[in-house]
Amino acid sequence: MNVQGISRSLVSYGDAGFSRFLRNTFLASAGYSGEELSRPVIGVADLSSDYNPCHRQMDELVANVKRGVLAAGGIPFVFPTISLGETFLNPTSMLYRNLLAMETEELIRAQPMDAAVLLGGCDKTVPAQLMAAAVSEVPVILDVVGPMLTSSWRGERLGACTDCRRFWARYRAGGLSEAEIDEVEVSLASTSGTCMVMGTASTMGSVTEALGMMLPGGATPPSPTGDRLRHGTATGARAVELARQPVLPREIMTAEAFENALRVLAALGGSTNAVVHLLAIARRAGVPLQLDDFDRVSRDTPLLVDLKPSGAGYMEDFHRAGGVPVLLKSLERTLHVDHVGVCGRSLADVLAEVEPPAQWQEIIRTVEQPVGPPGALAVLRGSLAPDGAVIKVSAASPELAVHEGPALVFDSPEEAAERLDDPDLDVTADHVLVLRNAGPVAAGMPEAGSLPIPKRLAGAGVTDMARVSDARMSGTSYGTVVLHCTPESAVGGPLAQVRDGDLIRLDVPHRTLDLLVAEEELAGRRAAWQPPEPPQRGWRRLYAQTVLPASLGADLDFL
Ligand code: FES
Repeated sequence: MNVQGISRSLVSYGDAGFSRFLRNTFLASAGYSGEELSRPVIGVADLSSDYNPCHRQMDELVANVKRGVLAAGGIPFVFPTISLGETFLNPTSMLYRNLLAMETEELIRAQPMDAAVLLGGCDKTVPAQLMAAAVSEVPVILDVVGPMLTSSWRGERLGACTDCRRFWARYRAGGLSEAEIDEVEVSLASTSGTCMVMGTASTMGSVTEALGMMLPGGATPPSPTGDRLRHGTATGARAVELARQPVLPREIMTAEAFENALRVLAALGGSTNAVVHLLAIARRAGVPLQLDDFDRVSRDTPLLVDLKPSGAGYMEDFHRAGGVPVLLKSLERTLHVDHVGVCGRSLADVLAEVEPPAQWQEIIRTVEQPVGPPGALAVLRGSLAPDGAVIKVSAASPELAVHEGPALVFDSPEEAAERLDDPDLDVTADHVLVLRNAGPVAAGMPEAGSLPIPKRLAGAGVTDMARVSDARMSGTSYGTVVLHCTPESAVGGPLAQVRDGDLIRLDVPHRTLDLLVAEEELAGRRAAWQPPEPPQRGWRRLYAQTVLPASLGADLDFL
């Protein structure tokens, strides 16, 4: 029993008795009784924001978590943190992941709580909360708002945001009118919740469950459902038990837990963003996870879940088929089943109550009958990415897995956006589109890596091209897109030296990515290279000066 409740983290007035007296005075004004304040205090991080429509029903989830806390004999204290709405943050929500991680870490430490429930969902929120949890000195349990339900347009099933990209590409190619794309725009995201494909939000929710930081079954219940709210109530109740018998997140986020999470990531064909996030979380948890571990685990893990963008289904299908527990059941023989998560039971005990994938569904498969072969995620190295790059093989075109072509270079996402629509752009389907100055230092690593197919080629029916960058791409994207090239161009990485027409060779089976230019020529280019100016002030300056490379998780070096 380690409950200190409201007496934790007293304000430093040099007189602890006075600090407690003053705190009680203000709590009395909020109507709390002495009995209530003798209970375990559960901090509940609420990431509601008008700038984050994915979280628009978070208040219901918060209410259910509070119910669970109260029913279990605790007292909930809800506190806000910044909420990172993926489509609302310029230049990218990734620039603010570390800020949310830092804020959450500090508020858990500075405010009185015996345990914390962190409620997230939209892409960067859950990674930031796991980063904060990794260094917490009180128990932490996560829950998410859950995915949206699907909708339809003219009889075609729709979901954000793989279909957002598909329909936009169709519109760019002249296949949809203005009126039609307007109809699609209001049909793609029709309920509360996070993107309902296996994008970053769904991936990170599933990975959190696999890490053991969320109660079993929490990743998939759709946002508007009772299943989601019941899971919130159970989470609140469990937080009180964790406050009474504390288990710290770093005791849960072990090397074995990360190995399980990598296995799940590979079997899901999950977002490439999870690579950067898991590296950052592991670094904080003191687990020596490496970029190559993702490739190693992926090589012997088949694709087992048939969800977009790698497959066909949506999160509600995954949920109805049993969600992450059934996937874990399929993977059981390859998992560390002794691992104990926030639920307090070993994975073996949890899975003893789970049936293998049912015959009536096709979304979750067995290892014997997978959706796709092993290797959904690959790590590449070579002269263009000495410290590594990542490609989502399961969402790429097999015919481009080995490809050699001339580079067409863009110096920024803005330049790419401008020139790719130029009807006179000198480009063929064999070109390799290269985007630079989009890594962590240069731009906070926006999801600009899946450059659109040049408009002229898209109109001629080209749907995929090899693309290479130091950017990320959305977990809902697809295509032959090499990402996270490290070192990035803004610190003088090889991408900075590429010129139009240089030959680039991509060889996914051999895990290589090379710039086919003679070393003497490259040495001359390197000598003439000038680094970009850092941002002038504020968070962006601090970020650019202290952010680690993507291959290390892009956390700040002092955290
Ligand atoms: Fe929030 Fe996709 S935009 S999860």
